[in-house]
Amino acid sequence: MRLFSTDIDGTIYDGPETAAFFKNYWESLCAGVSTKPLLAFNTGRSVAHTMELVETGELPVPDYLICGVGTIVQNLANGTHDEGYSARLAENWNFDIVQEVVTGYDEAIEQQPEKSQNPHKCSFYYENASPETLERIIRDIAGLGVSAQAVYSSNRDLDFLPVSANKGNAVAYLAESLGIPNSEVVVAGDSGNDARMFLVPGVKGVVVSNAEESLKDIVSNAGTGAFFATEPCAMGVAQGIDHFTR
Ligand code: GLC
Repeated sequence: MRLFSTDIDGTIYDGPETAAFFKNYWESLCAGVSTKPLLAFNTGRSVAHTMELVETGELPVPDYLICGVGTIVQNLANGTHDEGYSARLAENWNFDIVQEVVTGYDEAIEQQPEKSQNPHKCSFYYENASPETLERIIRDIAGLGVSAQAVYSSNRDLDFLPVSANKGNAVAYLAESLGIPNSEVVVAGDSGNDARMFLVPGVKGVVVSNAEESLKDIVSNAGTGAFFATEPCAMGVAQGIDHFTR
């Protein structure tokens, strides 16, 4: 394993105990090898919200941040966004049109706070959204010349993103730019927005036991040999990495 791309919330972190478990596990893993694997947090959180957690020191400091559900790739050492990646997302995308179509579609749809938005991520809360409604919204957006996709997680979080933005494309882009083959990449997650990480050809996937059933179904149907942990959160991640690397 040369790169570990992991979701944060519900995967390596659900409070101080799991954070400490993961930090301890990661540090001992790195101590035992001559070349330290790279760590990328691959999260729906914004960069600022991710950094708030990183700065508590509860988790190991990652090498890369992939934030906003695969809409931002950032090298933590120099703090710069990867402009090449962002430029790819701009095609046929328009934040204002997406916002206008979705707002007011159904009174149960509520826009997430400003800090959760970024130029390539327009996010809402919408409980119990049906796949049909999401398809209709996407069609309406397409009618205005914008290609968007809806990513639904935790039966509540609804992100509209450019069609090429997802956690999987972002980690594949990062691995390629680092010259790391997908077979040396391990990914881990628990919810809907993680699904695309598991579908990157050749990567090794770890699904934690507390994962959403819908994610478990997508990953097992894909038949990619992912590891389904019997333990939740950080403990399941450790089981999975051990499975693939020891
Ligand atoms: C994180 C983000 C939120 C997003 C969710 C699912 O919670 O803060 O904006 O909707 O992940 O991707």
